Amino acid sequence: AAAPVPAKEDFFGCLVKAIPARLLYAKSSPAFPTVLAQTIRNSRWSSPQNVQPLYIITPTNASHIQSAVVCGRRHAVRLRVRSGGHDYEGLSYRSERPEEFAVVDLNKMRAVSVDVKARTAWVDSGAQLGELYYTIAKNSPVLAFPAGVCPTIGVGGNFAGGGFGMLLRKYGIAAENVIDVKVVDANGTLLDKSSMSADHFWAVRGGGGESFGIVVSWQVNLLPVPPTVTVFQIPKTVREGAVELVNKWQLVGPALPDDLMIRIIAFGDTAKFEGMYLGTCKTLTPLMTSKFPELGMNASHCNEMPWIKSVPFIHLGKQATLFDLLNRNNTFKPFAEYKSDYVYQPVPKTVWAQIFVWLVKPGAGIMIMDPYGAAISATPEAATPFPHRMGVLFNIQYVNYWFDEAGGAAPLQWSKDMYRFMEPYVSKNPRQAYANYRDIDLGRNEVVNDVSTYASGKVWGEKYFKGNFQRLAITKGKVDPQDYFRNEQSIPPLLAK
Ligand code: FDA
Repeated sequence: AAAPVPAKEDFFGCLVKAIPARLLYAKSSPAFPTVLAQTIRNSRWSSPQNVQPLYIITPTNASHIQSAVVCGRRHAVRLRVRSGGHDYEGLSYRSERPEEFAVVDLNKMRAVSVDVKARTAWVDSGAQLGELYYTIAKNSPVLAFPAGVCPTIGVGGNFAGGGFGMLLRKYGIAAENVIDVKVVDANGTLLDKSSMSADHFWAVRGGGGESFGIVVSWQVNLLPVPPTVTVFQIPKTVREGAVELVNKWQLVGPALPDDLMIRIIAFGDTAKFEGMYLGTCKTLTPLMTSKFPELGMNASHCNEMPWIKSVPFIHLGKQATLFDLLNRNNTFKPFAEYKSDYVYQPVPKTVWAQIFVWLVKPGAGIMIMDPYGAAISATPEAATPFPHRMGVLFNIQYVNYWFDEAGGAAPLQWSKDMYRFMEPYVSKNPRQAYANYRDIDLGRNEVVNDVSTYASGKVWGEKYFKGNFQRLAITKGKVDPQDYFRNEQSIPPLLAK
């Protein structure tokens, strides 16, 4: 008898029957390292010491994705899906544990089609947010979409985990503005809203990537913006009153009208107040004078522009152009560590003073603080899996970068210590975190009998999803009971006894 063929060779043999060979990369192929590295954004996960995929599949249509799932199931090879590769822990292309898996990389599927009359668009998961924004604006200067700030983020991961940016107070998160999807499920079946269960449709819009199948494309509602928006950036050092200003902002920021979003980027001894207003300087300045006079904002701070220009402006600064939205070759690939928090009670002023001491310690990172209130807080917690709603004052993201592999000790220690220091001042039971700011320190799934356990998932899952976690797990139990689509933080299936 012939020697048995290893499963992975069967898998490849299965793939080549359905998918053109030029779309498949085996680990041994010369192009493999380049294709793998293309959208790795966190250099911590690029070294060959990470557990890498055996194959990368770059489908050009939904049937290729379906075939990849069918072959993967038949030959026991798992799939991880990658859209923009921005996952903070790299789980779209690496495994923490030894595992044989392939990556379905959607970078060749990035069509965006806009229907101005209906105010909707279909966008493929592999598009980056900048491509979506650019195409919307090309079709209409007064329509927009509320997703992430950084233009190279993938639509697939961003929408799957919620997705918010400078329009969050006006229009909430990306996922709640999704009206239809095309998803390949764990059986390789292509579903849309009309053919999937209501729970499945609920879960893919904010329940986190990977768990509920491969989302091929999303139909979204486009939302009105005025022809002119106004952006300002006002840095204040501690000597210039940063402590008092941040202390005041935490109450003012979440209570402003929904047309105005002022976030803070705190680094070193400085708090940068970054505002976007859906209107002109003429109405913004009196509003600021009445609501937040201490900041000293005036007409000289105003940068008026169409909404679309505000995206590269906020991300890259004054010199940025619309073409930066389309640039997929981002060369900024630091080593990075991220954590997040939600704040419901104002942080005492004395603590803000201490925070600015933390921000100048060795290994210090930065804090990005997004005010909630208005639309994002008005949606009921159970309406989508994203549960950070009523009562949230602001979200904190702790970001830490370093630029050589050996330089991680101090920043990693700072992140840990800072997170511990903040514990008394942030949400409790559970201490909440934003799913798209993935943090593996919150917990990892344990796999028993080849299925991720509910108990292990609950530990990190309730931090991201609060009371929605159980419904997500029950839904997972219905759509993927064998836990085919999984990673270290995928939703485990909860099966009815
Ligand atoms: P990636 O491809 O790595 O996927 C992330 C996760 O989703 C993985 O588990 C993956 O398997 C899964 N997934 C991807 N595509 C899928 C698909 N089609 N179907 C099913 N599952 C899929 N967030 C935010 O809300 N607002 C912001 O302003 C920012 N800013 C920001 C800046 C920078 C520089 C980074 C690196 C990240 C952010 N983020 C963010 C976080 C970002 O939203 C988050 O990392 C997203 O998951 C990234 O989506 P990608 O498709 O790029 O990642």
